[in-house]
Amino acid sequence: MGKIEIDSQKCISCGDCTLTCPSILLADGQGIRVVDEEYCTLCGHCLALCPVKAITIEGMNLREFPDLPEDLEVPPETLAAFLRSRRSCRVFAEKEVDREVLEKLVDIARYAPTGHNSQNFQFMVIKEKNLIRALAKRTAIFFGNLYKMLSAPGINLPPWLQSHMRGFRLNWEYYQAGKDRIFRNAPALIIIHAPAENVSSAQNCSLAMAHIILQAQAMGLGTCIIGYFITAAERDPSIIKELEIPKENKIFTCCTVGYPVLKFKRLVERKPPAVRWL
Ligand SMILES: Cc1cc2nc3c(=O)[nH]c(=O)nc-3n(C[C@H](O)[C@H](O)[C@H](O)COP(=O)(O)O)c2cc1C
Ligand code: SF4
Ligand code: SF4
Repeated sequence: MGKIEIDSQKCISCGDCTLTCPSILLADGQGIRVVDEEYCTLCGHCLALCPVKAITIEGMNLREFPDLPEDLEVPPETLAAFLRSRRSCRVFAEKEVDREVLEKLVDIARYAPTGHNSQNFQFMVIKEKNLIRALAKRTAIFFGNLYKMLSAPGINLPPWLQSHMRGFRLNWEYYQAGKDRIFRNAPALIIIHAPAENVSSAQNCSLAMAHIILQAQAMGLGTCIIGYFITAAERDPSIIKELEIPKENKIFTCCTVGYPVLKFKRLVERKPPAVRWL
């Protein structure tokens, strides 16, 4: 039995599956022929399109393909306003985020687009306060050391790096004063890692993170992507070791999650788009 089966009794030859997947599903005059099925990426397009459920694919469960809700349309202005209203959160209430809430965020992240539909990201959700503190400490120490190294006499920094130096120093000074400038005392972290060598991994993880921060916003949660931690994790092997990230993987992104204390009253300005029309 092949991986992809077309039930010729059900098929009404509408051709939709061949339009969406012409490299695997071919109309040959007598029905639909499957070619090179080993290249099927399990994207699910054909199963989601077929009006008569004539297609089955090994490893894909039609029960996980619910009908599209009728009222799914989001008015474009509402979506635009929602997207524009997302803010990074750096002041969190002292309130835990329940596991079920975090599960929902991870669940929705896996519907983000991925290169070749690889879905090759892995998530780590951290609610353990002591571990969050330990990671903040390692990150602050990393930046303290980096600051000292880059401040040594005779070192000429390029302007982009120079502009980061104050932040590096503050990370360290806050830590020394007992404050968490890395995760801002957030009650939870979500880390996304993936195989370092896969060319799509960086984008896959970032897009999954975009799902998380937008879904979180819709659920009344605040998030902030923590580049400081991502940078430290990339260069300090003890962080990867502590978290038992697989050797072949890299942490591509990370965010804090919690309940926001501040409520923004206005949207914010941005630079005009730098765009070339050709
Ligand atoms: C790749 C990336 C790394 C970031 N790293 C940090 C960080 O380490 N700490 C932090 O407080 N904010 C971090 N941010 C949040 C940005 O500062 C924030 O998105 C930006 O100032 C715009 O504000 P907004 O998110 O509220 O629109 C990061 C954002 C991105 C996309
Ligand atoms: S699941 Fe995607 S790649 Fe596989 S046959 Fe269907 S449309 Fe083509
Ligand atoms: S989408 Fe379904 S009904 Fe239409 S051609 Fe393909 S298998 Fe047949």
